[in-house]
Amino acid sequence: MLDEAALGRNLALIDRVRRESGAEIIVALKACAMWSIFPELAGHSDGATASSLSEARLVFEEYGAPAHTYAPAYSDSEFEGIVGYSSHITFNSVGQFDRFGARALLRGISCGLRINPGYSPVETDLYNPALPGSRLGVPELAALPAGVEGLHFHVLCESGAEHLARALEAVEKRFSHLLSRESGLKWLNCGGGHLMTREGYDVELLIETIKNFRSRYPHLRVILEPGSAFTWRTGYLVSRVEDVVESDGIRTAMLDVSFACHMPDCLEMPYKPAIVGAHDTQPGEKGYRMGGSSCLAGDWMGGRNADGDFGYTKDDGSDWGVGDRVVFEDMIHYTMVKTTMFNGVKHPSIAIWSADETANPRLRIVREFGYEDYKNRMS
Ligand SMILES: Cc1ncc(COP(=O)(O)O)c(C=O)c1O
Repeated sequence: MLDEAALGRNLALIDRVRRESGAEIIVALKACAMWSIFPELAGHSDGATASSLSEARLVFEEYGAPAHTYAPAYSDSEFEGIVGYSSHITFNSVGQFDRFGARALLRGISCGLRINPGYSPVETDLYNPALPGSRLGVPELAALPAGVEGLHFHVLCESGAEHLARALEAVEKRFSHLLSRESGLKWLNCGGGHLMTREGYDVELLIETIKNFRSRYPHLRVILEPGSAFTWRTGYLVSRVEDVVESDGIRTAMLDVSFACHMPDCLEMPYKPAIVGAHDTQPGEKGYRMGGSSCLAGDWMGGRNADGDFGYTKDDGSDWGVGDRVVFEDMIHYTMVKTTMFNGVKHPSIAIWSADETANPRLRIVREFGYEDYKNRMS
């Protein structure tokens, strides 16, 4: 369930950064492709970025503008389509530009190359594109190949403004010869991972960092393509307790949603999601694990680390039981886009909680899923 008012607050902040920094901020579809909100996103961004043919087409059809597209490797079968839906295409290697660049240039598309500055503040290897041997971006480049007028780097993930400052320093250290007006460069895309809507993010430093960089390279368009920042903390996954089981003294509330199918980042990252009204149990306090509805043995969340299970009591002092609601926080970005129908489990409906307090009904169901959606993916 997307909370429209929370989205509005994020968009207002993003607008301010666009206005005050002079950067173009485009929305990364990979984080949230809920296209019923694209009209709203389009009103508060400078475009959208796609990482595949399908995303580029969705940008073109529903966002209403051609996409900035980047994918680690384009294929013959998809490239023609991508050209039709894109205004900017970034290539991951000189080899890919040599293979496909001419086709893009002939259609007037602005071409870029992804560079790897060899710096990233990201501590989880799974999300770090700058590790030694990384396949993402060229680690060195003597000169821009003829036809390339943009550079792109992506090294941040839920990062702060100070990390963008360091990333830009690393880019200048390795690639300064490509940034000058004489090099022919027209734009620098600083990727995603700028979590400017997170509480405590230093928005002033972000604005100053970009303004400072732009003052040194006034001929460059500076582009940021965050995904998470747009839909950070804008919605919930609402589930229900279907059973409570106990084994070896551990109590598990069995839910009608699954971590493996509906919140895969919780297991992948891993991180323990926040539940409205629940707290981390203290030593000696008996809480609950939350059990997912798939058959995967590890499809549960709770005190995997030192942080305890979910502690909870209702206002009347009673325990969690069948029929009670369990509401997971911050389940829009990188959650909806990653869901699967593993085990054929029921897919959650998509809904919007209107910002208009007088709306009737306030909750609008955008989409419900059924057997046909599952069946159509399988044969
Ligand atoms: C190339 C690229 N651009 C943009 C993004 C969006 O990043 P975020 O959602 O963390 O802002 C990603 C995320 O993986 C990415 O790989």
